[in-house]
Amino acid sequence: MKLFGAIALFLPFASAIWPIPSSYASGDSVLWVDKKVKITYNSETQSVGYMQNSSNPNGTVTGAQIVATAIQRTLDTIFTQNFIPWKFHPRNSNFEPSESNKTYIRSIALQQNSTDSKTASKALDGAVDESYTLSVTKDGAVTITAASSIGISYGLNTFTQLFYKHSKGGAYTPLAPVQISDAPEFPHRGMNMDVARSWYPVPDVLRMIDALAYNKMNRFHLHATDSQSWPLVIPALPDLATKGAYRSDLVYSPADLKNIQTYGALRGVEVIVEIDMPGHTSSIWFSHPELITAFNVQPNWGTYAAEPPSGTLKLNSSAVSDFLNTLLNDLLPRVSPYSSYFHTGGDEVNLNAYNLDETVRSNKTAVLQPLMQKFVDRNHNQVRAAGLTPIVWEEMLLVWNLTLGEDVVVQTWQSEAAVAATVASGHKALVGNYNYWYLDCGHGQWLDFAPGVSSREFYPYNDYCSPRHNWRVMYAYDPLEGVPANGTHLVLGGEVHMWSEQTDPVNLDRNVWPRASAAGEVLWSGAKDASGQNRSQITASPRLSEMRERLVARGVMAEPIQMPFCTMNGTQCAL
Ligand SMILES: *[C@@H]1O[C@H](CO)[C@@H](O)[C@H](O)[C@H]1NC(C)=O
Ligand SMILES: *[C@@H]1O[C@H](CO)[C@@H](O)[C@H](O)[C@H]1NC(C)=O
Ligand SMILES: *[C@@H]1O[C@H](CO)[C@@H](O)[C@H](O)[C@H]1NC(C)=O
Ligand SMILES: *[C@@H]1O[C@H](CO)[C@@H](O)[C@H](O)[C@H]1NC(C)=O
Ligand SMILES: *[C@@H]1O[C@H](CO)[C@@H](O)[C@H](O)[C@H]1NC(C)=O
Ligand SMILES: *[C@@H]1O[C@H](CO)[C@@H](O)[C@H](O)[C@H]1NC(C)=O
Ligand SMILES: *[C@@H]1O[C@H](CO)[C@@H](O)[C@H](O)[C@H]1NC(C)=O
Ligand SMILES: *[C@@H]1O[C@H](CO)[C@@H](O)[C@H](O)[C@H]1NC(C)=O
Ligand SMILES: *[C@@H]1O[C@H](CO)[C@@H](O)[C@H](O)[C@H]1NC(C)=O
Ligand SMILES: *[C@@H]1O[C@H](CO)[C@@H](O)[C@H](O)[C@H]1NC(C)=O
Repeated sequence: MKLFGAIALFLPFASAIWPIPSSYASGDSVLWVDKKVKITYNSETQSVGYMQNSSNPNGTVTGAQIVATAIQRTLDTIFTQNFIPWKFHPRNSNFEPSESNKTYIRSIALQQNSTDSKTASKALDGAVDESYTLSVTKDGAVTITAASSIGISYGLNTFTQLFYKHSKGGAYTPLAPVQISDAPEFPHRGMNMDVARSWYPVPDVLRMIDALAYNKMNRFHLHATDSQSWPLVIPALPDLATKGAYRSDLVYSPADLKNIQTYGALRGVEVIVEIDMPGHTSSIWFSHPELITAFNVQPNWGTYAAEPPSGTLKLNSSAVSDFLNTLLNDLLPRVSPYSSYFHTGGDEVNLNAYNLDETVRSNKTAVLQPLMQKFVDRNHNQVRAAGLTPIVWEEMLLVWNLTLGEDVVVQTWQSEAAVAATVASGHKALVGNYNYWYLDCGHGQWLDFAPGVSSREFYPYNDYCSPRHNWRVMYAYDPLEGVPANGTHLVLGGEVHMWSEQTDPVNLDRNVWPRASAAGEVLWSGAKDASGQNRSQITASPRLSEMRERLVARGVMAEPIQMPFCTMNGTQCAL
């Protein structure tokens, strides 16, 4: 066996596991997988597909269901969603193993050495032991050990990445024996998807969850509503979606939400729902105009909001409190079977909008701040009463200086200083600096500029966070940058962000993948390598290229990061 790190530069394709495991050794013997491979889970034979989609009365997904789903996905990906790795071998070389004298993997033993907690599929960050070990012997004995069902699913996921499709049929690994021991650096490895500015059919959302799972990313943050549309159906307030969605059928029904949540839970991806407030709420106006102030001021919307249409929930209104009470009483019981968290938003609140709010008539922070504290306290008390932990955007802590409960997780997005300040306040932090991890940047402006002064001033129409952050930039982001050693334990991890001003189902996949994979490796493996240095693009790019091929084979239209010339023979595209 050879240690991966030492050989990576010399093998054009070597054990392209993404994200890179903590410890990984492999050999050069070939093994094939038998289509009838026998899989045992704690010594019991697993018949594929069983109880995959049977769920408990109260919705919570069980560890046995997670393992059953992982087994099905393992077999599907190895036998039907695999690829021939010609791009990773010299031009016209005969790289495929001979078909004679095959040694087969005929059994896989899954050993979970600890019992899942009842809430394993909707855990708080860090509550589940996600580690696993994977051993493949030269003669084809496979053992995966983990403390949790999620760990077992990660072991199987890694196992799939050892295999390639053979052009004459079947699947093989050229890497036996294999010995892997692996665990994540950060417990919260997520993606935030805005399904309000553009609407996505449910299968697009599920495909993102699949792709997250392939990358061992475990949180899907559903930015469910915003000023432009309200697609989330709230049965207790039926007009919200029928009037506030772009079209009354471009919505997510309770059954759709449950489908998304269950799909995630079965794949180890916890779905976290956000209702962003009090800003980013003007779509409520379409059904409840009395609750919204400064709605769609034109043309100088810029005085009242970061984006059109302006509008925000009134800040000192009992009607707004009653509305939120009804809204959250409807929604939170549908969230709690699948998540430990609920995100109450809180970004980009515009002060001037409250000049027009008859319940306040002021834009002074001294007047507004106590009202904002009451607003957030009310929401968070209700969130806690439903057994959930609140998440807020950084502004609530760092701009509004609110006193937040110790439990509240703060999602930062503007800077590394915001992470350090959050941690210094004693709060847990999520990272996702927009200069690195915003997937929407670099498309150019979506605003239109009138000919003349406006058009000249904004030429060449770059957006606020351009240029596009390529995977190398995403990969260079260290979540712990600027965080003092005594605060790093408070950095739970982070999320990449897919805001949807200029993304819809047509370009979703290629805007997210494989760039989100780069962030996924930072979150799983850490930004630094074993010797404490920044991870090398030179060793990462062939692995990421191969991960891209796997994503494509699995139905995710991830874009290429290099041409085959670069991946066919080592490091000839390095500088
Ligand atoms: C359960 O999953 C199987 C495929 O795994 C599918 O054929 C069946 O329709 C599903 N049943 C339900 C009730 O969703
Ligand atoms: C339902 O959920 C509760 C709390 O999460 C849990 O204690 C209980 O075991 C669950 N019921 C079933 C049948 O799984
Ligand atoms: C692969 O790269 C090596 C080192 O640069 C070179 O010697 C060799 O000729 C290349 N092989 C092919 C097939 O391009
Ligand atoms: C077949 O493979 C086995 C195991 O790899 C090896 O020991 C044996 O020598 C091979 N036999 C032939 C005829 O190649
Ligand atoms: C359980 O499995 C994990 C992951 O492989 C391993 O780290 C741990 O040592 C095992 N625990 C026991 C008691 O065997
Ligand atoms: C908030 O509303 C209450 C009741 O209408 C009113 O008494 C109070 O003055 C308002 N607060 C501010 C800051 O306007
Ligand atoms: C607050 O409102 C006043 C009156 O409209 C305005 O002149 C001032 O610029 C506003 N302050 C801020 C910080 O926007
Ligand atoms: C919050 O604190 C900062 C720094 O002390 C200050 O600049 C800001 O005005 C405060 N915000 C509010 C709403 O009080
Ligand atoms: C390592 O990456 C950081 C960004 O995370 C960067 O500031 C630093 O310059 C890099 N160091 C080296 C030696 O490239
Ligand atoms: C870390 O140490 C500094 C200096 O002693 C202290 O001010 C800060 O509160 C500590 N941070 C945490 C999160 O404990």
